[in-house]
Amino acid sequence: MLMSNTTPNTIYLKDYTVPEFLISHTTLHFDLDANNTIVRSTLNVRRNPACQKDHPDLVLMGEDLSLLSIQIDGTPLTAEQYTLTDESLTIHQPRNEFVIEISNSIIPSSNTALSGLFESNAMLCTQCEAEGFRRITWFLDRPDVMSIYSVTIEANKDKYPILLSNGNRSEQRDLDNNKHAASWHDPFPKPSYLFALVAGDLACLSDTFTTCSGREIALEIYVEEHDLDKTQHAMQSLKNAMRWDEEAFGREYDLELYMIVAVSHFNMGAMENKGLNVFNTKFVLASETTATDDDYKSIEAVIGHEYFHNWSGNRVTCRDWFQLSLKEGFTVFRDQQFTAYQTSDAVKRIKDVNMLRTHQFAEDAGPLAHPIRPDQYAEINNFYTLTVYEKGAEVVRMLHTLLGEQNFRKGCDLYFDRHDGQAVTTEDFIKALEDANGVTFNQFKHWYNQAGTPIVSATTQYDSKASTYSITLKQHCPATPNQATKEPFHIPVSIGLIGENGDAITLSNDKTTTVLELLEPEQTFMFNDINSEPTPSVLRGFSAPVRLKLKLSTEQQVQLFTHDSDTFNRWEAGQNCFTEVIFNTVKAIQNKQNPPTLPPTLIEAFRLVLQAPLNDLTYQTLLLNLPSKAYLIEQMPTLDIDALYQAHHFVKHALARSLKDSWFTGYQQHHQADAGISSNDIAQRSFKNLCLSYLMALDEKKLTGLCAQQFNGAKNMTDQVAALSLLSHLDDEQSAPFFDAFYTQWKGEALVIDKWFTLQACTEKASALDSVKKLLKHPDFDMTTPNRVRSVISAFAMANPLHFNAADGSGYEFIADKIIELDRINPQIAARVTNSLSRWRKLDADRQQLVKQQLSRIQSQTALSKDVLEIVTRSLAA
Ligand code: BES
Ligand code: ZN
Repeated sequence: MLMSNTTPNTIYLKDYTVPEFLISHTTLHFDLDANNTIVRSTLNVRRNPACQKDHPDLVLMGEDLSLLSIQIDGTPLTAEQYTLTDESLTIHQPRNEFVIEISNSIIPSSNTALSGLFESNAMLCTQCEAEGFRRITWFLDRPDVMSIYSVTIEANKDKYPILLSNGNRSEQRDLDNNKHAASWHDPFPKPSYLFALVAGDLACLSDTFTTCSGREIALEIYVEEHDLDKTQHAMQSLKNAMRWDEEAFGREYDLELYMIVAVSHFNMGAMENKGLNVFNTKFVLASETTATDDDYKSIEAVIGHEYFHNWSGNRVTCRDWFQLSLKEGFTVFRDQQFTAYQTSDAVKRIKDVNMLRTHQFAEDAGPLAHPIRPDQYAEINNFYTLTVYEKGAEVVRMLHTLLGEQNFRKGCDLYFDRHDGQAVTTEDFIKALEDANGVTFNQFKHWYNQAGTPIVSATTQYDSKASTYSITLKQHCPATPNQATKEPFHIPVSIGLIGENGDAITLSNDKTTTVLELLEPEQTFMFNDINSEPTPSVLRGFSAPVRLKLKLSTEQQVQLFTHDSDTFNRWEAGQNCFTEVIFNTVKAIQNKQNPPTLPPTLIEAFRLVLQAPLNDLTYQTLLLNLPSKAYLIEQMPTLDIDALYQAHHFVKHALARSLKDSWFTGYQQHHQADAGISSNDIAQRSFKNLCLSYLMALDEKKLTGLCAQQFNGAKNMTDQVAALSLLSHLDDEQSAPFFDAFYTQWKGEALVIDKWFTLQACTEKASALDSVKKLLKHPDFDMTTPNRVRSVISAFAMANPLHFNAADGSGYEFIADKIIELDRINPQIAARVTNSLSRWRKLDADRQQLVKQQLSRIQSQTALSKDVLEIVTRSLAA
């Protein structure tokens, strides 16, 4: 057994060398056929002047390809002139400049890994990031080799009337044998991972967008014919994103055409291929009856994200895959700002932080922890992580906080300007921010290289004689794999002080918030002219991705919950109170004592929020929502899943009972069965569905009836799913009729049926695992469709901690079986599911053994993919 935490074929950042050759122009010809596609590639190759090596070989990467012919400058190669392996095609000591022509065949219909060229329903499409292009033809498949692409696609006219690739359309013509051909040219040099091709019988929604400089861009969204009525929201989102990027970042679109294609089989959410984005249907299709309000929001966010990559990723790309966060972290930050602008700053920030702390902190605390710029990997697909994405976005946000809006913008302008058309590193990004502002970020760079979530402890002291208030901040970061000790981080700690009467105190910067810069392991900051002991509001807006330890009394927390002008910390205060109450309840349950009662001041504060409408009803909903079980799991050093669920239910029940009339009134006031999708309608729905969830916690027949009534009368998916989700935990006899009705209504709508699968996989009832096993036998279940796999298997492993962690190990064993089965079909998806087995160290001793057994069983499989092997090996390593 491998006991180190590196798997074979580990690649190191320190080994980076420039490419030996460059490819100025890439001409591709595809003769498409699902069972046998012929690719002819013509590459204009020359020695890279930046490479010092004498007479290097040209090593092209390739995987799962059949070679048909190969020639250089028109002459076929002899057998001695090249070497072919499973992973590469090596040309021995070629000239300094030459044209190589390769012809090869591939079989899209048997490509279940969904990387490279594959079939999805009746269409053919590509996914090349990170290393999928090498599954299409041999190439220098690395992001620092940027090339200009000309593509011709030839295919049957009936099966594939629409033929798309990157860039602008150049020619379309008919051929013999009922075939036709389309040619495309992309004038912007790009790495191979941004290449795309789509062919199929697709319907199209067209529109236009006029850019800030007056250019008219054609916008096209391609979907299967029966989905055309679900594309308007995606189109509006695209136009919103294009306008926002012009206004917020000064970025204009560059091609004549922007296309989005929705496909049913997709490993990820969406992909930013130049001029031709490919999307999972989940992030394009929406209608009021089939998509929830959250679906609408995530569509806009993902469309924005991929669009924003046109600058942060495409025009300026990554030198190597270690720099992934350069494009992903930055682009997530950009899409977060976009969504905040389109909706609400307060709500967006809370949701993002909630996600970060629940899932990224968990990753950072486990065996898979890695810096946002990793320094080694075996399989790059395993590094599209919450750390690279979400923590990466937090790191960009801290730079934004430290520089301020305008200076940050100056830095970004310089970055885009200076590096347009280049493949660069995170240092280049930092350098541009530094140079534009005459500052240095040396210590800050540790955020890129050190893994783990820093812990910041704060203590305060008030001196009434001197009228001073001081706060001492200490930082410490726990060890992570390969990093026992850490250098201190540069941490922006945003802070405000609240006076006795609840008013914000004006600080020496004449504002009510200031940013302290914590640079040392320990530092004290002083506030003068403070006339009575204030309540500190620390880490406002969650100004750094750290765990804050600050002891406040319940009174102080209630004061923040009632008065803090910082919307994040106001919410946070309520969450902290309830986290404490729930954990005290857990302790009582573990010690077989009576659970504590809720502090009356807390209930009163809640009642006030519940009864006094704020301007932002969605924010109000968040204030009243208990911390999620998933968040609490992350906060628990040793997981006691049964006690946690009991405690959570107990507290929710207590709160439901104490404020029963208000929940009921809240529900009645805001429930409108036929509401639309205006932001006010959406806000009202989120509020009354929260009220309903409290009412359901009371477990009273009449209230269950109310929920059933909402389900039966629902005219939109949000209300239908909210009700069904609450009903899903009732015993089978009660819940089955609702699930049957839902299925009958929605069979044929794949994205809705995914929800049907997920709700059943996430049930709390004891029979959960049996139902999941039954669902896998359902005719609509399919192991080759990632959305379906995620809706049942991933949902159970990641979103049903109660039954996944069943004491007898049945949940772990089931998931391990599925990982082994999936690995032969789609290693990327299998590896994602394997992540769920990595956090065994926070379980009790018996469960630890059970998980380790399953990890070892997976590891001992023959022909395991690199993807799963790496996750398993790192998960087991000490
Ligand atoms: N470039 C990624 C998609 C990707 C990553 C495809 C790795 C293949 C391999 C894209 O920009 C992305 O980040 N998509 C996210 C959604 C986004 C809103 C965070 C995704 O697919 O989950
Ligand atoms: Zn991205």
